[in-house]
Amino acid sequence: MGSDIKYLKAEASHTPEMHSLLMEHGPNEWNYLPEEGVKAEMEDVASGRAIAVLAKAEEKIVGFAVAYPGLIRFPAIVESRKDAEVCGYIGDVVVHSDFAGKGIGSKLLNEAKSLLREENIQEIHIDCHEENAASRGMMRKAGFRQLALFDDPDRRFAGSRKTWLGRYTD
Ligand SMILES: CC(C)(COP(=O)(O)OP(=O)(O)OC[C@H]1O[C@@H](n2cnc3c(N)ncnc32)[C@H](O)[C@@H]1OP(=O)(O)O)[C@@H](O)C(=O)NCCC(=O)NCCS
Repeated sequence: MGSDIKYLKAEASHTPEMHSLLMEHGPNEWNYLPEEGVKAEMEDVASGRAIAVLAKAEEKIVGFAVAYPGLIRFPAIVESRKDAEVCGYIGDVVVHSDFAGKGIGSKLLNEAKSLLREENIQEIHIDCHEENAASRGMMRKAGFRQLALFDDPDRRFAGSRKTWLGRYTD
């Protein structure tokens, strides 16, 4: 499945196409995608602060995942036993709707895990709306397990308004 898909590390020149993909296929009732936040994330990829993995079909970007080495995104929630420099956070993940459900999202997470491992990251966090079933399925398939479930009314506007926080460690 998804065998004609190539996975590669993003470069700054990819960020305009990534931005368009995210704004077209990312929004749903479960996702928090403020324009300013998306812009900042793309700038982080362009500057190298964040690393991104692309899924390409032919020459078209059909999915990506953005990963931050050296970041604990929810320090108030995560009582990490590890220092921030060995922790990483995976931000936005999106797959073009024509390509969803083929294992591309979970493969992107696995590729992001490998890139973070190269940066000596030992523990990775990721989050989504508790009720985002596709996202939860993708995260489960990539080996993330629940670390916390918390009320998040400033970022979640539908359903339970809770954020599911997952963790992966080798
Ligand atoms: C979330 C997203 C990236 C998943 O990408 P994907 O390529 O479809 O993910 P995968 O195919 O690797 O895995 C999805 C898993 O969830 C399951 N799943 C998908 N939709 C589901 C649903 N509505 N209910 C229950 N399970 C679902 C799939 O069956 C699959 O698991 P399985 O292979 O064990 O059956 C994609 O749906 C997307 O871009 N959504 C919009 C943006 C978004 O919500 N991003 C995540 C925010 S954190």
